[in-house]
Amino acid sequence: MGRKSAKSKEKKQRRKEENAKLAVSLAKVDAACKLEDPLSLFEPFRKFDRNGVSLTIECKHADDLDDTAKEFIFQLCKKNMQKLYEENGIQGWKDRDKREELLEDKARYLLVRDVKQELVAFVHFRFDMEFDEEILYCYEIQLTECVRRKGLGKFLMQILELLAHKTEMLKVMLTVFKANDNAVKFFMEALKFEVDDISPDDGMYEEEARYWILSKPIKRKTPLAPKQVPQSNTVTTNTSVNTNGQTNGVAVQ
Ligand SMILES: CC(C)(COP(=O)(O)OP(=O)(O)OC[C@H]1O[C@@H](n2cnc3c(N)ncnc32)[C@H](O)[C@@H]1OP(=O)(O)O)[C@@H](O)C(=O)NCCC(=O)NCCS
Repeated sequence: MGRKSAKSKEKKQRRKEENAKLAVSLAKVDAACKLEDPLSLFEPFRKFDRNGVSLTIECKHADDLDDTAKEFIFQLCKKNMQKLYEENGIQGWKDRDKREELLEDKARYLLVRDVKQELVAFVHFRFDMEFDEEILYCYEIQLTECVRRKGLGKFLMQILELLAHKTEMLKVMLTVFKANDNAVKFFMEALKFEVDDISPDDGMYEEEARYWILSKPIKRKTPLAPKQVPQSNTVTTNTSVNTNGQTNGVAVQ
């Protein structure tokens, strides 16, 4: 009896700890979602002036996008991805589903404009939970052809890593079709993303074997204090950054 009671106490204690940990994770996601303009934490990252292009970057909630931006996002996504979806996606490409996904409540955007204020690229990301972990999920990174291979994609992914670090997310995650050779090289070779534990195995359903879920852990110099919850709009920082992607306090590769 004595032994049984000790065991059930242990179990109860473990469950309590797990619940407390989950509450902290949820609070972090909630605080991150409430940040009005996360880019204000990294002012130098509002500009990309390199390799013959001069671009500006802004961060917006899906709710705040105007019709021109909404249409640009959808059309660029369609142009870049429709064929890959049709050849590899579980349900192919569906305009309506994609439009809905792009404008869901939690969707946030990095929008990139050229000197004429024309949109040339975007990133769709969300702060969310993946199982019991707080993560930043990159749903889309889409560049028009004229701004590719200039380091912009890498720069935008660095912004996501910095945001994830600042908001105390554990990882940046994304999904990539195995057949999207350029993207696979970009994420896995250049940016050192790795296949995540939750990625479907090759032996699973045929459609699932056509994509990987990739992730990159957010490294910290010092581990987080237990039960540390950032307040919305008051995410503290001791991370200094420069626009060459070198950071002090977060590893960006
Ligand atoms: C994938 C994508 C985001 C890359 O952005 P980008 O700005 O062109 O990439 P960068 O210039 O930052 O490249 C960084 C490195 O990634 C690798 N890389 C990027 N594009 C590559 C390509 N087409 N082929 C091979 N390697 C590539 C290279 O190592 C490159 O470094 P280098 O130019 O010094 O050789 C962009 O090509 C794109 O929008 N593609 C269409 C949409 C898409 O497939 N998105 C991903 C969906 S999951």
